[in-house]
Amino acid sequence: MYVQRLELVDFRSYEAVAVDLSAGTSVLVGPNGVGKTNLLEALGYVATLDSHRVATDAPLVRAGAAAAVIRCLVVHDGRELLVELEIVPGKANRARLGRSPVRRARDVLGALRMVLFAPEDLELVRGDPAFRRGYLDDLLVARQPRYAGVRADYDRVVKQRNALLRTAYLSRKTGGTRGGDLSTLDVWDTHLARHGAELLAGRLDLVNALGPFVAKAYDAVAAGRGAAGIAYRSGVEVGAGDRATLEQALLEALAAGRSSEVDRGVTLTGPHRDDLTLTLGTLPAKGYASHGESWSYALALRLAAYDLLRADGIEPVLALDDVFAELDAGRRERLAELVGGASQLLVTCAVPDDVPAALRGARYEVSEGTIRRAD
Ligand SMILES: Nc1ncnc2c1ncn2[C@@H]1O[C@H](COP(=O)(O)OP(=O)(O)O)[C@@H](O)[C@H]1O
Ligand SMILES: [Mg+2]
Repeated sequence: MYVQRLELVDFRSYEAVAVDLSAGTSVLVGPNGVGKTNLLEALGYVATLDSHRVATDAPLVRAGAAAAVIRCLVVHDGRELLVELEIVPGKANRARLGRSPVRRARDVLGALRMVLFAPEDLELVRGDPAFRRGYLDDLLVARQPRYAGVRADYDRVVKQRNALLRTAYLSRKTGGTRGGDLSTLDVWDTHLARHGAELLAGRLDLVNALGPFVAKAYDAVAAGRGAAGIAYRSGVEVGAGDRATLEQALLEALAAGRSSEVDRGVTLTGPHRDDLTLTLGTLPAKGYASHGESWSYALALRLAAYDLLRADGIEPVLALDDVFAELDAGRRERLAELVGGASQLLVTCAVPDDVPAALRGARYEVSEGTIRRAD
């Protein structure tokens, strides 16, 4: 799979830009702050409907503009597919596939599969569990787009259940005698258990499939120093990991935790509270790994995602944002060997010499608001 053309209107720093790309390696060169990452971020948004840098859409729209448009032509198995997204902050995105409107923006998921590694990914190792859950869920959706619906259903249930608990909590706190109406909580428990079990089953499967790829990728990136292992950490007993068992386990955990949830006014059990534990040898990576190790681990997580998607039979686009400047010469060469065969590899850098000669494909120069092919 590769992106043949990218057009942006009022996205980030770009008023209007269009760039033709080709399969194989492209290196985007330009000094800091000219908009290299913005280009990759736009593609990442098409792939996940999310930015790897910000949690809300407002910063994605050019200052002073009302909406942003990302248009990208994806070639897969010799067929072209045009994906168009309009981002209007505070509103649902509008999307078109092959020039026809789709019902929901998430219907475009799967049209572009992309793995993006960026400096922000250090948070995968060092940051809150939410980053690791996001990593898992994005990969889950990239492999099986129907999980976008599962994820949305689950998020909606947690939100509504939390709203119910919160209202009761506040009413109690302000001296309400009835403590708010919690009579519908049981219904929300069954919804939460049903959607939660589906999401949980998907994540457990994914972590099983991903584990060997993470170990292999870390080994390749860090040249045999320590073994990387991943494990899913759930607040419920996952047993054999099948949906029926998980649904039951969630229901029981919700029943057992009911009084503390009512006390605190928030849902304390479910996949939205789980984590992915990352280990190096016998130690957790978080809190123990050095900067270099954490960085290698984050890269290994992305490379593993890439390898897993490839093993599924669809070669995703691979993008490496500002990666080579962080590496010494030996590691640069090793990484180049690992990624050189990608059907499309997009690399950004400030200093072209940082990118190994093996990866010198097409070169693009990015300067404020424009991008042009340099050779
Ligand atoms: N919504 C926005 N409107 C206008 N400019 C923006 C917006 N968001 C980011 N920028 C600008 O984009 C630039 C950063 O682009 P970026 O792609 O991160 O640069 P780099 O080439 O270093 O990767 C900054 O100058 C920033 O001010
Ligand atoms: Mg950048």
